[in-house]
Order: sequence, then C-alpha cells, then structure tokens
Amino acid sequence: MTPQTHLALLLPGKRAQLIIASVPDVSPGAGEIAVKVRALAVNPFDRYVQAVGDVVTGYLAYPAVIGTDVAGEVVALGPGVSRFRIGDRVLGHAAGIEKCRNKAAEGGFQELVLLLAHMASPIPADLSFENAAVLPLGLSTAACGLFQKDFLALAPPRVDPVPTRETVLVWGGSSSVGSNAIQLARAAGYDVATTCSPANFDYVRQLGAAHVFDYRRPSVDAEIVDAMRGRQVVGAITIGKGAAAACMRILAQCEGRRFVAQASAPASFDDVTGTPGRWRKLLPALAKMVAGSIALKLLAKRTGLETKMIWGGSLIENEVGKMIYGAFLPEALSRKIYAAMPPSEVVGHGLQSISEAMARQRRGVSARKLVVTL
Ligand SMILES: NC(=O)c1ccc[n+]([C@@H]2O[C@H](COP(=O)([O-])OP(=O)(O)OC[C@H]3O[C@@H](n4cnc5c(N)ncnc54)[C@H](OP(=O)(O)O)[C@@H]3O)[C@@H](O)[C@H]2O)c1
Repeated sequence: MTPQTHLALLLPGKRAQLIIASVPDVSPGAGEIAVKVRALAVNPFDRYVQAVGDVVTGYLAYPAVIGTDVAGEVVALGPGVSRFRIGDRVLGHAAGIEKCRNKAAEGGFQELVLLLAHMASPIPADLSFENAAVLPLGLSTAACGLFQKDFLALAPPRVDPVPTRETVLVWGGSSSVGSNAIQLARAAGYDVATTCSPANFDYVRQLGAAHVFDYRRPSVDAEIVDAMRGRQVVGAITIGKGAAAACMRILAQCEGRRFVAQASAPASFDDVTGTPGRWRKLLPALAKMVAGSIALKLLAKRTGLETKMIWGGSLIENEVGKMIYGAFLPEALSRKIYAAMPPSEVVGHGLQSISEAMARQRRGVSARKLVVTL
C-alpha cells in the first residue's frame, strides 16, 4: 500500500529557508490525536526558531516543523485517548519544537499534526477554526506565568470564579499573552491592572481589566502605584520592552507578593536573520540579552523581588497543561466565559501564506492575531 502523505512547511536545517514539502502521515502514539489542521496562527517565537534556532532551540532535530497554534478536526486517536472522538473540532498547542517532544510530526505548520491530547481542547460549534487558532501559545504562556508553582502560583481558573480581592498586574494586556493573562486572572478570581496603548483601553476592559494605564506615559509607574494603594498585589506578568523593570519598580512600592513572571526576554532577536552576516545583528542582541538579564537580577536584588523567565511550553509536563486544556477551557469556551482573543486576522490561505504572516508579525501587531487557513 502507498503510504499516505500531506504537505508540511519544513525547516530543513538550522537557519534554513522554510520550504513546503510532502511528508509521510504519522499515526498518533499513546496519548496523542491526529488533527487535520484547518487554521493556524503565527507567534514571534516561530521566527526566532527559524532565524536564531541555534541559540534558542539548539536541541532541535532537523528537518523540523515549527508552529504551535492550530485548530482543526480530529482524524485519528492514539492508544489510551478517551477525551476525543474522530470528527471532533479542536484547538491545540502543537509541541513539536519542545525539547521534551522534538518531533516534526508534532509541529503545527502542516496539514496533519499530532497533538498531545492533554494539550488540546474541544471547541464549540459556533467558534470558527480561524478564531480558535488564536489561543494556544498565548494561553499557555499566560497560564505558565500565572499558575505554575514556581511562578505566581495563583488559585486555578474556574468557570464560576470566587473573588480573592487581590490584584494581578498584567503589563502588555493587548498582546496575545496579555489578552489571555487578563482573562485567566479574572477566571481565577483576581482583579486585573494592565497597560496598553489608549486605542486598546476598551478592548482590555472588555476582557475584564479593572485598572488600565498607558505604558508610554512617563508617569505610568506612579499612576499604577497610586491606584494599587490599599490593595494586595499578587505579582506581575510582563510583556514588552522595559516591562519587567517597570513592574519591579512598581511592585517594590505595593503591598503583596513581589514576583515578576517575564514573558518577554530583556532583548529582542527581531532584527536577526538566518542569512550570512547575521553576526552583526546577533552579537549586539546577545550582548543586550546578557546585560539586560544582569540588570534585572540586580534590580530584583535591590528591590527584594523575584523574577523569572517563562517558557510557554513548560505546562506540557506539569499539572497546568491538563488544568487549562482539560479542566477549564472546554467548559469556559462553551459557556462563553472565555473568549478566543485577540481577534484573528486571516492573512491568507495555504502553507505558502505562513511566511507572509510571519513577516507581518515581525512588523508588529496590536490586539490582533495573524492567522492562516488551510
Ligand atoms: N516566554 C515565552 O515562552 C513566550 C511565549 C510567547 C510569547 N512570548 C513573548 O511575549 C511577548 C508577547 O508575545 P505576543 O505573541 O503576545 O505578542 P503580540 O501580540 O504580537 O504583541 C503585540 C502587542 O504587544 C503590546 N506591546 C508591545 N510593546 C509593549 C510594551 N512595551 N508594553 C506593553 N505592551 C506592549 C502592543 O500593545 P499596544 O498595541 O496596545 O501598544 C501589542 O498589542 C513577546 O515578547 C514574545 O516574544 C514569550
């Protein structure tokens, strides 16, 4: 019998150009489901794996398939999977580039992906694939920062939240990670203070933020400290340039837990390409990364704070992944307690549109998730 094949966007080697190629279908292993991908979303990290994979994912086996955010239909079940049926509509965090998985068959940017069943959720009939695909990495990263025991360790999210009267600071609330952090913190019973551009104030309020600030105002630190007077602040999750340092300065003046969960690294690899001559951009970026990390550690020491970088895939191996994708999200989506945000913008159809979506992502988005349909 001829083996079945499908198309995948392959990364053939370190820093190589992405190519579309035919690859064999792989049957799901224990605890996995095979999903026909109908929509996928791009994240800043997809670019980093392609351009600076030698630095950020040195363990990766090639050819690799990058991409984490997918939605589609279940077409096969691996041994031991009872949560799903063939034909179910799902979203999932594709784990192919995680060190603990490291398998091209589990990368998101292809027509057929193997998902870990505990990192997938059924989606309601009225949630389109392109809207569902916006969630996975933003949701996972926010959940790692808010709920993992070695981060903010907040009470778990519920469909019927119990108010804690405590506040979480989400710096960068209109980003993908921030949109999920606001909603998750609210579902866990916390008030949310957040920052974004004024154009997105209404957006973050609709997601549930009670206190909203413009991060570009020189007085923003003082404004937040003022608003938090008399409140218990349980820590911060930080997105964007300068976010971690700002939150440290703020938390040092607030009552409560002094912990900053960093989603954004202290410097960006956005300008680094995979092409020859890249060292001219890569070396300064690496130097900034090291200097920025040292500066944050020193600031943390001076202000008596803890700070730690989030790895948005770490929930795969702990209780948080199952809690989010299994216990919370399916019911929260079907009862409309959780929204698939930020809103999707479909860049194109077919694997060939992913490079354009990644290029647009690099130019910057605001309260939007760039999606490709398949
Ligand atoms: N550690 C991990 O595992 C992990 C995983 C995923 C993402 N990340 C990182 O987390 C960050 C967010 O990723 P994403 O996909 O959520 O990004 P995104 O949606 O593409 O980010 C765009 C948004 O970020 C906001 N923003 C930019 N700079 C900001 C700043 N200095 N302060 C506050 N808000 C700012 C913008 O807000 P306005 O338009 O309102 O100004 C915009 O809405 C990136 O740095 C990404 O690399 C890390």
